[in-house]
Amino acid sequence: MEGILEIQDVRKAFGSLRALDGVTLGVKEKGVHILVGPNGSGKTTLINVVGGFYKPDSGRVIFEGRDITGLPPHKAYALGVSRTFQIPSLFTKLTVLENVLVAAKNNPGESFVKSLFKKAWVKEETEATKKAFAILQLLGLDKVSEHESSTLSGGQMKLLELGRALMSGARLILLDEPISGVNPTLAHEIFGRILKLRDELGVTFLIVEHRLEVVLEYVDTVTAMAVGKVVAEGKPEQVMSDPKVIEAYLGA
Ligand SMILES: Nc1ncnc2c1ncn2[C@@H]1O[C@H](COP(=O)(O)OP(=O)(O)OP(=O)(O)O)[C@@H](O)[C@H]1O
Ligand SMILES: [Mg+2]
Repeated sequence: MEGILEIQDVRKAFGSLRALDGVTLGVKEKGVHILVGPNGSGKTTLINVVGGFYKPDSGRVIFEGRDITGLPPHKAYALGVSRTFQIPSLFTKLTVLENVLVAAKNNPGESFVKSLFKKAWVKEETEATKKAFAILQLLGLDKVSEHESSTLSGGQMKLLELGRALMSGARLILLDEPISGVNPTLAHEIFGRILKLRDELGVTFLIVEHRLEVVLEYVDTVTAMAVGKVVAEGKPEQVMSDPKVIEAYLGA
């Protein structure tokens, strides 16, 4: 079966440095797919290519059967590929619910934000509001929906960013080290929520994550990279015990 995302022989150089040196990789629909690899192996570059932030020198990126190679970020985003930092950072003065509502597709931008203050959206945006609430519930943020987003903890803000991506209609979410600097308890909470979103909303995740030992139980597939190439792929235990992967880390 074809994956929701097919990366085919992608190359990207910065000057003489081959950051991606022929990467081929498929992501299953509704998968939680992790990219690991030593520093500088090309993980961030790869998700930037998928999200449209870097144009590859060659190769193809196919999303839902459609060639999105080299599309600019806003076009990839409109098609359902979201790199969370694509969404403007949180509006700290708006409530949690309002932050999610503003991220909805087809909302009339600034005038919509203004209308929030008039509370006009209460009638006009009932459908959107329902959807936003459902998302907040899945993220465990429903109880703080009326709180100003500036009052959230760091972990809750990360979850709210995810909520905004989902509200925008994302079907593939790209995350670059979402639990970096986060304690293990919160890391488990975040990955638990990611699984819930996958199960309830059918979204697919491609996540760069070093701390595989923390996220092992949540992951379907791991791809290990080293110096711009895929060196191993499979179930987490299998990949982490692969001699080529161990060597890549030891050599780094
Ligand atoms: N915009 C850029 N200009 C020049 N070189 C770049 C650029 N982006 C990345 N690189 C280089 O490409 C290589 C791959 O970088 P990348 O950020 O993709 O690695 P990574 O696997 O995400 O590493 P880390 O685990 O440290 O985040 C590195 O050598 C990096 O210095
Ligand atoms: Mg990186």
